[in-house]
Amino acid sequence: MPISKQAVEELDRRRASATVGGGPKKIEARHTKGLWTARERLDSLFTPGTFQEFGLHAQHESRQFGMEGKDLPGDAVVTGVGFIDGRPVAAFSQDFTVAGGSLGSMHAEKLSLIMDHAELSGVPVIGFNDSGGARIQEGVSALSGYGQVFNRNVRLSGVVPQIAVISGPCAGGAAYSPALMDFIIMIRGGSEMFICGPEVIRGVTGQATSKDEIGSADVHASVSGNIHFVADSEQDAVDIVRRLLSYLPANNMSEPPHVITPELDLGDDPGMDDILPESGKVPFDVKDVITRLVDPDSFLEVQRDFAKNIVVGFGRIAGMVVGFIANQPKEMAGCLDIDASDKGSRFIRFCNAFGIPIVNLVDVPGFLPGVRQERGGIIRHGAKMLFAYGATTVPKITIIMRKAYGGAFLAMCSRDMGADIVLAWPTAEIAVMGAEGAVNILYRGDLEKAEDRAGRSRELADEYRAHFASPYISAGKLFVHDVIKPSETRSRISLALRTLLTKRETRPPKKHGNIPL
Ligand code: HXC
Repeated sequence: MPISKQAVEELDRRRASATVGGGPKKIEARHTKGLWTARERLDSLFTPGTFQEFGLHAQHESRQFGMEGKDLPGDAVVTGVGFIDGRPVAAFSQDFTVAGGSLGSMHAEKLSLIMDHAELSGVPVIGFNDSGGARIQEGVSALSGYGQVFNRNVRLSGVVPQIAVISGPCAGGAAYSPALMDFIIMIRGGSEMFICGPEVIRGVTGQATSKDEIGSADVHASVSGNIHFVADSEQDAVDIVRRLLSYLPANNMSEPPHVITPELDLGDDPGMDDILPESGKVPFDVKDVITRLVDPDSFLEVQRDFAKNIVVGFGRIAGMVVGFIANQPKEMAGCLDIDASDKGSRFIRFCNAFGIPIVNLVDVPGFLPGVRQERGGIIRHGAKMLFAYGATTVPKITIIMRKAYGGAFLAMCSRDMGADIVLAWPTAEIAVMGAEGAVNILYRGDLEKAEDRAGRSRELADEYRAHFASPYISAGKLFVHDVIKPSETRSRISLALRTLLTKRETRPPKKHGNIPL
């Protein structure tokens, strides 16, 4: 029997009323603020015509406080699967024009449905978060909804990539689901994120503050370290999502999107031989090294504004996707501190979960000395780096550019900590500690008696350096596979990657390790 005209009209009518969100007035209010609607975000994210919506006709279950009979289209969230660059991706987009994007039980059910679908089909999840949090009128049912969502965020962690965009105000529970995902992008000026807003803070602690001070994109990018990217606009946020996805596999059972060419890319880069300053004490920008190592324009830095003494990000070398972890000599001389350890170890664990090979660029004088660091738990935080590398089975290549001192060198992935290939530049100084520090301890008595203390100290330090800090000592003991010219680094990494892409390493079975948190 052909479908009746009435049935078609009924479907069209239902579709139209479900897709209007909170109506033209509320949509206009969003546009005036330079913000997009939930559907406009998905339209921009996905290839046109590829979005399959799940739950367009879902009805909310709020029955109290004036909610009975109220129409909340889609229960304030749009969910479904679409295609990006030919690859399927699941997404949800909260609709602030409907009850402030608040999460009721049906809203949570829709999120759960799409996340379960992502798990079963092994596709990434993108979430546009724009919500006042738990729907107050639904009480504990809304709270339970958040529990279901958080639980799925955790279940999916390490199975499929999860990317959160903070597109508007995200308060309470609306901040915790993103925090459980892999990457968070915030829109400068258009979004904010906090657990307790200024009013609550003032009421409980008496402290006066503003939303900007506790929850802006810039604060989370540079102070709290809660987020990974700042977007300048809605479009920019979508572009960052698409770029990020271009480095990631769909799930933990798939390979990253390497572009393997039949020819090997073996050319030297003579300019690299001049990249270091004359003196080993003069800082340089490690991003200049990364830029020369990667295929043109392929470096995507993660958490650029937080813990700048370590640089992490994705890039491609001869088409192969890699994650970089690099000391940054121009910030705190590249020392590892609490924040750098947290930033580095989380990135290492992401790469490992999704089979992305790691390249470590080392110029590290040590862990940052200081009372604040010790009292703040640098032992625990620095141990995260050791733990993360030690637990990592993806290919790891370590390049020692200059200093590689003590525990901080182990925490940047020495051979013993699991590097598959360690290459040192002739400028590498690999030692248990810096030469100056070592002679101060070993020759304290001598130095106290010396007429020219500074001169004697220099002499002894040079001697120590020649004996212990030269890369040839470590190469002689096989701690370093080879000493190479900086100009050979790109070709040697690309060769190493090619030989390591087939690496398989298994460990004794266990539930999981107990990383120091
Ligand atoms: C129900 C909500 C809501 C909520 C906003 N709205 N938040 N409805 N439950 N949680 C509704 C408003 O009543 C309003 O409805 C519409 O959304 C737009 O809100 P406005 O306040 O007009 O918008 P704006 O001025 O832009 O402020 C946005 C906001 C503010 C900052 C998000 O609404 C706000 O502070 N909301 C409450 C945030 C909060 O405390 N959430 C915590 C919930 S508890 P009308 O009909 O007028 O358009 C929670 C616990 C989970 O999340 C914990 C898990 C760990």
